[in-house]
Amino acid sequence: TTPRTFRIAAIPADGIGKEVVAAGRQVLDALAADSTGGTDAFALDWQEFDWGCEYYARTGKMMADDGLDQLKDFDAIYFGAVGWPTVPDDVSLWGLRLRICQNFDQWANVRPVHFLPGVISPLRKADDTELDWVVVRENSEGEYAGLGGRNLSGRGPGGEVAVQSSLFTEVGCERIIRFAFDLARTRTRRKVSSVTKSNAQQYGMVLWDDVFKRVAAEYPDVETESVLVDAMSAKFVLRPEDLSVVVASNLNADILSDLGSALAGSLGLAASANLNPERRFPSMFEPVHGSAPDIAGQGLANPIGAVGSAALMLEHFGLPDQAARLNKAIEKTTAAGVLTRDVGGSATTDEVTKTLIDALTP
Ligand code: NAI
Ligand code: MG
Repeated sequence: TTPRTFRIAAIPADGIGKEVVAAGRQVLDALAADSTGGTDAFALDWQEFDWGCEYYARTGKMMADDGLDQLKDFDAIYFGAVGWPTVPDDVSLWGLRLRICQNFDQWANVRPVHFLPGVISPLRKADDTELDWVVVRENSEGEYAGLGGRNLSGRGPGGEVAVQSSLFTEVGCERIIRFAFDLARTRTRRKVSSVTKSNAQQYGMVLWDDVFKRVAAEYPDVETESVLVDAMSAKFVLRPEDLSVVVASNLNADILSDLGSALAGSLGLAASANLNPERRFPSMFEPVHGSAPDIAGQGLANPIGAVGSAALMLEHFGLPDQAARLNKAIEKTTAAGVLTRDVGGSATTDEVTKTLIDALTP
């Protein structure tokens, strides 16, 4: 059989984004090369885009003007990380990553938290408890709607004011909450935890709570809870075994997923998918971490978050067995103690990458 070919736009962007995307591509190419023959044989056709902060230095823009047009027909986007000290972070993030997420309506951001063998977690419970949960992040509105302004009334020096508004729509809340319930039904533990701060934020977050109750009634087989974000951050640490799917607004889920990946051992391990579930636009797969200027260019970057994101991409393509092979290779690699410095080892990015590739074959 001829393998299915997927066209992927690679956007390494900045700092360690370049290192981990290069690593992820090597591992994916090795998996594709080894997939021939089976029913889920696949091939990858890559195109790389040089957008990011260096592109900004040359052009004054984070991506080409017609960049979205260039991307729209790809099967997926494989993203590194954006941001470098030469460009203000809000300019680089909005100019590239958020521009893609919002225009391609990638409204569901899925961030699994896996505890890997051989990686020491700061959680004592991780030693003897099966910990495995998914943060589902609303990715199109909420606190990152970009609504507001500065110095609205020209109050003069020292008197500047700024407004940063959140946007919550019933449609936006409902689709992400429904997504979380559907995901919960695919998991061993059928539970959805909804996170808000509706005691203090009485408009948007109360709307969210109301929609959550309404949708929950349609899923009587799924256990539910509503937890305030401050309490949930404590629960992540104290009762992580009680979590399965955690659904939250853009900002709250952003923070909780970094906490989750730190509990699992390192930000460098965490994978994520920015999904357009209707598949009208390409979805984007990227590690949770940023461009890490403090370690960039030194071969210290942990590629596992990027490789785990590649596994999420394969699942999105309908290749669950190939995704499982990739995740198995990650577990074998960490279990063997081939670890980068952030998780207590001394292996380089290249050494971990090579071990991952070797671990693909049983
Ligand atoms: P960061 O995630 O880049 O780094 C935080 C800490 O974690 C650093 O000490 C870093 O060395 C470490 N770290 C992160 N990923 C690692 C990996 N794969 N292996 C080993 N260690 C790793 O977050 P930070 O420092 O707040 O932001 C740096 C830049 O990245 C900023 O410009 C920020 O705007 C941008 N950023 C971009 C994101 C994206 O493109 N999705 C997400 C978060 C931040
Ligand atoms: Mg974040």
